Amino acid sequence: MAKSKIAVIGAGLMGHGIAQVFALAGHDVTITDPSAASLATVKERISANLKDLGDDPAAIERVTPVAGLADCVKAADFIVEAAPENLELKRKLFAEIEAAARPDAILASNTSVIQITGIMQNLHRRERALGTHWWNPPFLVPLVEVIGTEWTSPEAIEFTMKLHRQAGKTPAHVKKDVPGFIGNRLQHALWREAVSLVENGICDAETVDTVIKAAFGRRLAVLGPLENADLVGTDLTLAIHQNVLPHIDSRPGPSPYLEKLVADGKLGFKSGEGFRTWTPEQQSELRKAVVQHLKKARDGG
Ligand SMILES: NC(=O)c1ccc[n+]([C@@H]2O[C@H](COP(=O)([O-])OP(=O)(O)OC[C@H]3O[C@@H](n4cnc5c(N)ncnc54)[C@H](O)[C@@H]3O)[C@@H](O)[C@H]2O)c1
Repeated sequence: MAKSKIAVIGAGLMGHGIAQVFALAGHDVTITDPSAASLATVKERISANLKDLGDDPAAIERVTPVAGLADCVKAADFIVEAAPENLELKRKLFAEIEAAARPDAILASNTSVIQITGIMQNLHRRERALGTHWWNPPFLVPLVEVIGTEWTSPEAIEFTMKLHRQAGKTPAHVKKDVPGFIGNRLQHALWREAVSLVENGICDAETVDTVIKAAFGRRLAVLGPLENADLVGTDLTLAIHQNVLPHIDSRPGPSPYLEKLVADGKLGFKSGEGFRTWTPEQQSELRKAVVQHLKKARDGG
C-alpha cells in the first residue's frame, strides 16, 4: 500500500500507540491533543516504546505533533479519533474533523463501546465514517475491529482493512454496529460467568482465574471456540450446551455482587481491593507479566 497521511486525534494511552504503529509502517502521522503536556511528550513516549520493543527508532521522524485539530487533519487520507469515551465529545469532534478534512478522507473512531452510528449520525459524508477498535497496548495486541454502520461504503471498509493489515495488524470486519462489537461481547460473556461463579460460592476469584489460565486460556491463542467446537464435534458441543447452558448466568444486567464491590469502593488496583486484594508490588508484577507475555507472542516466542 502506498504511503498514506494519517491523523490521530488524542495523544493519550491509545492515540500515541496507534500513531506509533502507523509511523513504523512507513506512513506520515500527525497527532493532536488539547493537552499541551500530552502533545509535548508524545514523541518521547513513542520513542521510549520503540526502544523498548527493539523497533526502528527512525519511525519517530514520521510523527508530527500539531497544536490545532484542523491543521492536524487537513491533509490526511485517514483520520482516527482516540479522545475520551464520551458520545457528545466524539460527535462534536467529528463535526469539526469533517469540516476541516479532505472530502475523500476516511474518518474512524477508536471508541471502546459507543456505537459508531451514534457518533457519526450527523455527518454529511457518513459513507466514509467507521469504527476502528484497537486493543491496549496498540503496538502489542494485533486485533483491530473495523466496524461499518449502515452507511459505510464497502470501499471505505476495504481501504481500512488493507491499511491496518499492511501496518501489521489483524483487522476483523464487524458487519453490524452492535454494542461491544465482537471482542468485548465475547470477553464480557466470560466475565459475567466468572463473577457469577464467585457470587454463588462455587470458587473464589483467584480460582476462577487459575482455571482459565491453566486450561482453555492456554489454548485460546491458537484454538478459537468455534475451531474447538469443530475439533471436538458439533454433536458433542450440542450435548454440552443442552446440559450446561441452562445453569450459566444469563441475567441481562450487571451482577449485584459487582455492583456492591463498586458501591463499597472496592475498585480493584485503584483502591487496592476488588475481587481480590492487591499490594502495589503484586499490581506491578501482574502488569509486567502481561507485557512480557504480549511481547513474546509478538516476537513469535
Ligand atoms: N484504554 C484502553 O484500553 C482502550 C482500548 C480500546 C479503545 N479505547 C478508547 O480509546 C479512546 C481513548 O482512550 P485512552 O485510553 O487513550 O484515553 P486517555 O485518557 O489515555 O487519552 C485521551 C486523550 O484525549 C485527549 N483529549 C481530551 N479532550 C480532547 C479533545 N477535545 N480532542 C482531542 N483529544 C482530547 C486527552 O488530553 C488525552 O490525551 C476512548 O474512546 C477509549 O474508550 C481505550
